[in-house]
Parts: sequence; structure tokens; C-alpha cells
Amino acid sequence: MINFIYLTLTIYRILKYLISNTKRYSNILLIIFLYKPKSIIEIGVYKGVRSKQMIQAARIFNKNIEYFGFDLFEMIDSNIQKKELSKIPNTKKDTLKNLSKYAKVKLFKGYTTKTLDKLKNKKVDLIFIDGGHKLSTIKNDWAKCKKFQKKNTIIIFDDYYLHDKKIIKRFGCNLVINKISEKEYFKKFCFFMDSFVHLKKKLCIKMIFLKKLNDD
Ligand SMILES: C[S@@+](CC[C@H](N)C(=O)[O-])C[C@H]1O[C@@H](n2cnc3c(N)ncnc32)[C@H](O)[C@@H]1O
Repeated sequence: MINFIYLTLTIYRILKYLISNTKRYSNILLIIFLYKPKSIIEIGVYKGVRSKQMIQAARIFNKNIEYFGFDLFEMIDSNIQKKELSKIPNTKKDTLKNLSKYAKVKLFKGYTTKTLDKLKNKKVDLIFIDGGHKLSTIKNDWAKCKKFQKKNTIIIFDDYYLHDKKIIKRFGCNLVINKISEKEYFKKFCFFMDSFVHLKKKLCIKMIFLKKLNDD
């Protein structure tokens, strides 16, 4: 049965994103609306705002949602923040308290080089990769996320940068995405994108949509 409260909330959020300067986040809610995932992995939980929105969008169609979140939480400091071109998240405890109202939640604190190994024997419907922005971190996150995928798992990457050939050598998912085989994944740019000024230059950010075509 459809949950009309979450349906209304999700439509409202999509419209709100579309008139904001972070339009690209509407892509995630639209994708959840179309693909109805029951299990979600988010790399980079930050304040749990998007996590809650994703869970509630998934709950339009399914009451029982599993959510797995990976973040540094209180381990982050300004040094790591700079290296990862990242943001300062909430604490793990507060995030767990907040998200557990809506789904079965498991959070993992620490570097994804270590924490992604801690989740075992799990295949999920949707993976959102939006943790550290350093290229080596995104490479690691993609490689380690493969074990959570099955046929039709959807993977969304944030941070595909346009118009800046320099930044993509160190940050963002461009070089990871460009190497992903179209024999294994259906690959598409998400429709809505954003632009920012970074170091006095205009930078456009897109999200990438992938769908795994086969079981391994
Ligand atoms: C861009 S924010 C995530 C935004 C969130 N997905 C959203 O849509 O609101 C990136 C998050 O990744 C976390 N992070 C950065 N580097 C990380 C790493 N190496 N391992 C785990 N988490 C990391 C940061 O603590 C931060 O909360």
C-alpha cells in the first residue's frame, strides 16, 4: 500500500530541490521513486538529512527499509575535511537516533578503507556514493561496494565535475566512472545538475546513475 504522507513529502522535496541551487539532489528522490529500493547504502551520511529523505521516499512503497550508512562522524577534523574536500558531519549517536525512527539502520564509523569491509554478506538495491571526494577515496569506495551489488542494483555517484580538467585528477568520480564498463553497467548522467564557483572558476557537478546488468 502506498504511504501518502511520504509520497506528499517526497514530491514537496523534489519540487523544493528543483527551485534551489542544489537541484541535483532531486535526482536521488526521483530514482528511488522509480526503482523502489528496499535496502540502501549511503557512503557519506553527513547530517543524515538526505538519508532521511531517501528512506522516506523508499517508504512510499515499502514499510520495512534497511539502511546502512558509512561516515567518519566525530572522527573528522579540519585537516581531514580539507584533504577530502568534505563537510563536517553529525555524531554517529545522534544520526542513529534520528534515522532509526524510519528504518532498520546500521551505521559504520571510520574511514571507508576499513569500514566497508565490516558489512558482510549483504546485497542491496541502491548505493549512494558521496563520501570523501578525494579520487583515491572514491576509487576505494567503488571497489569495495562491488560486493554489495547484484543484478539491477542501482548505484548513484555524486561529484562528477565538468569544465575543470585539473580538479578531476585529484577529486571527484570522473576518472572512476570513465573506467566502468558499459558491458557490466548501464551508465547515464542524471538529468539535474548544479553549478558552483570553486577557486574563482565555475564548476558544474553532475550525478551519475549506474545499473548493474548481471549477477557475478
Ligand atoms: C558530501 S558529505 C555527504 C553528504 C550526504 N551524502 C548528503 O547528501 O547530505 C561527505 C561525508 O563523507 C564523510 N567522509 C569524508 N571522507 C570520508 C572517508 N574517507 N571515509 C568515510 N567517510 C568520509 C564526511 O564525514 C562527510 O560527512
